[in-house]
Amino acid sequence: MNKMHGTFTIVTLAVVLLSIASSKEDETCSKGDSSCEISSEQKYSEVANEDAQFLKIITDAVDAHVPCSSENCSCHAQVIIRDLKPFKKRGIDKKMLDEAGARGTKYQIIGHRLYREENCMFPARCSGIEHFIKSQLKTLPDMEMIINTRDWPQVNKKFGPLRAVFSFSKTNEYSDIMYPAWAFWEGGPAIGLYPRGLGRWDQHRKELSQAADRYPWEKKKPIAFFRGSRTSSERDPLVLLARERPDIANAAYTRNQAWKSDADTLGQQPAEEVSFVDHCQYRYLFNFRGVAASFRFKHLFLCGSLVFHVGDEWQEFFYLSLKPWVHYIPVPANASKDTLRKLISYAQRHDEIVKGIAQRGRQHILEHLGMQDVKCYWGRLLKKYAKLLTFQPKLNKTLVEIK
Ligand SMILES: *[C@@H]1O[C@H](CO)[C@@H](O)[C@H](O)[C@H]1NC(C)=O
Ligand SMILES: *[C@@H]1O[C@H](CO)[C@@H](O)[C@H](O)[C@H]1NC(C)=O
Ligand SMILES: *[C@@H]1O[C@H](CO)[C@@H](O)[C@H](O)[C@H]1NC(C)=O
Repeated sequence: MNKMHGTFTIVTLAVVLLSIASSKEDETCSKGDSSCEISSEQKYSEVANEDAQFLKIITDAVDAHVPCSSENCSCHAQVIIRDLKPFKKRGIDKKMLDEAGARGTKYQIIGHRLYREENCMFPARCSGIEHFIKSQLKTLPDMEMIINTRDWPQVNKKFGPLRAVFSFSKTNEYSDIMYPAWAFWEGGPAIGLYPRGLGRWDQHRKELSQAADRYPWEKKKPIAFFRGSRTSSERDPLVLLARERPDIANAAYTRNQAWKSDADTLGQQPAEEVSFVDHCQYRYLFNFRGVAASFRFKHLFLCGSLVFHVGDEWQEFFYLSLKPWVHYIPVPANASKDTLRKLISYAQRHDEIVKGIAQRGRQHILEHLGMQDVKCYWGRLLKKYAKLLTFQPKLNKTLVEIK
């Protein structure tokens, strides 16, 4: 029901935005032109009409929302059921795992000990994964699994056979089994401000809560903010809007490893990176997809700012528990500069309503995405997964024990 509701609100949003986009701008109206008066009056009623539609979408979403229980990470339990469903009938046999070997790193749990292929493509990422498994080996049965540490998912529904591969992020076009990203503990991405890689979600949670106290809603600048590299052109319209209207948005590209010239930052010098804590000074924070889902997303909520989440394709395990209009403002991935300006303007003109969304979003992440929830999700996922294996895993002697 929640999923249907989410789809419904996205569709409704598209309709509202389309009607906004098609509403006439007053470009043809020059000073002294008598049609101006009519046009501005028309415009006023159009805006009022749009605002009423937004209010209805938000009210309906909030009314329909049933907050989830935080016991045993059950808030995210549906994702485990959904991701394992394709394997339910046929099970997961040895051949399927052997054939999927190249898609990730092979792990085994045998006799409550953890083993891994000696080489891991990204050692810090493996370590960020192992942290959550090692701490609960006592409760985990024997199993074998392939864990993909690349950014990109591996099991396309349309091409190739069904395979059991764990990935941190995917779209609905993939059958990968989602696991909580390594970055809850360590493993990146590495950027200037976090040179050892983003991680330690527990520490970010603390720091960001303090920053939220330092910058309560009333003290936040009522403009939109974004800093990041140009991993996807979906980020361009906001950056371009900010260049024209610094009173509405502060958004700029930073340098990434692939940066060669200003062309890689949309024709301007790269901007300085900004820590998550400093994001909290702004009232509206934008999240865009990166190569896959963006690690930025979960951090943004903790500032107590309003999150604008662009696109709904790329997911991590906790995304489905967050509801559009209840916890954040959904923005179509192809939203134009003009659509963004109108959405931000709506927020600026309806402070009390959007403050409620910001508070619910923050509360949700605080209550349902702590380190305990991440560990719990790993445990619940692996126990359910192990039940699907149709063979008794035996220790592969080429693997090394991870202590
Ligand atoms: C949570 O897990 C504990 C221990 O496994 C169990 O006793 C309890 O019934 C569970 N609660 C829910 C709501 O599933
Ligand atoms: C934006 O994407 C939606 C589908 O997600 C599509 O229906 C719509 O036509 C697109 N709009 C533009 C302006 O490209
Ligand atoms: C043991 O693991 C290695 C490395 O993944 C693999 O090439 C080999 O086929 C495995 N052996 C068995 C018996 O599964």
